[in-house]
Amino acid sequence: MEKKLRYLEKRLRSFPREPLSLAPTPCHRLNSLSQIYGVEVYCKRDDLTGFGFGGNKTRKLEFLIGEAREHGCDTLVTSGGIQSNFCRLTAAAGAATGMTVHLVLGGRRPKEATGNLLLNEMLGAQIYYVDSTDWNALEAESERIARELKGKGRKVFRIPIGGSVPVGIAGYVSAFIEVLEDEIRLKKSFDHIIHASGSGGTQAGLVVGKDMTGWKGSITGISVAMERGSLERKVFELAMETATLLGGRVSRKSVLVDDNFLGAGYAIKTDRAEKAIELFARKEGIFLDHVYTGKAASALLEWLSRGNLDGQRILFLHTGGQVELFARG
Ligand SMILES: Cc1ncc(COP(=O)(O)O)c(C=O)c1O
Repeated sequence: MEKKLRYLEKRLRSFPREPLSLAPTPCHRLNSLSQIYGVEVYCKRDDLTGFGFGGNKTRKLEFLIGEAREHGCDTLVTSGGIQSNFCRLTAAAGAATGMTVHLVLGGRRPKEATGNLLLNEMLGAQIYYVDSTDWNALEAESERIARELKGKGRKVFRIPIGGSVPVGIAGYVSAFIEVLEDEIRLKKSFDHIIHASGSGGTQAGLVVGKDMTGWKGSITGISVAMERGSLERKVFELAMETATLLGGRVSRKSVLVDDNFLGAGYAIKTDRAEKAIELFARKEGIFLDHVYTGKAASALLEWLSRGNLDGQRILFLHTGGQVELFARG
């Protein structure tokens, strides 16, 4: 494992990277939950990546902005939902590195900007609204705006939804290596990593880290956006492309998705997630959001209460998203 790990670290170092995050993020035991369920539960706090209100997307942006700067770009264009965390962090990354940011957001312009939208405005991003929640429609408009800006002489770096392209996903391969370092520091090994999976990039990065180092544990992505088959296919495709970029391979068996906690769809609240959010707040003093981490935690809690995780040491990856708690409407 040591040799494979050094090889992977070397490959990751060969990519340009903008140091945005304050990683390593904390990794600690959830004492109350561990006591309630009689299972060791730890939390990797990627809500505390320390830049632009934190969250998993900072890690992807370190590599994406590194590439944009290497190509001499001066403009970033990306798209997402109206409360997209990725768009907020792209706006922050652009602000911090002197690039103009254009965001294509799905939905109607609200009377009052709250949550991530308020932060996008504070960060000085140029915002366009598309009255659709269809990701393909958002990508098409973002592509059109990118072309228009190029026509005006801007050096544009366009990023697909969620930054889920191999270069961005390298950020989560690097996060996986950080988890291995957490295991050494804590003198504990984890059997299972559980986290929210949306566009699939975070999970793809973790899977590449697992398969390229030979880590023996399991990784389960809790789907917050699509049914299991589609997300598993997407994660596997992204993981294969990223592994190829890094000179490695991944196995289809390493991609595990559970879509039972999605409810009626992306960004639609579920009762189970509400309960998980309340439990994390009241027992651990940790805030989760309704769109991503609340749904992932609802899976964790249900599996714990059913005894599905007995005898395992669990790592819950907190991917951030709490700004949504301050969004209205
Ligand atoms: C807070 C939060 N958690 C999890 C995810 C899912 O990450 P991915 O799109 O890489 O699957 C996102 C994506 O936007 C997010 O904002």
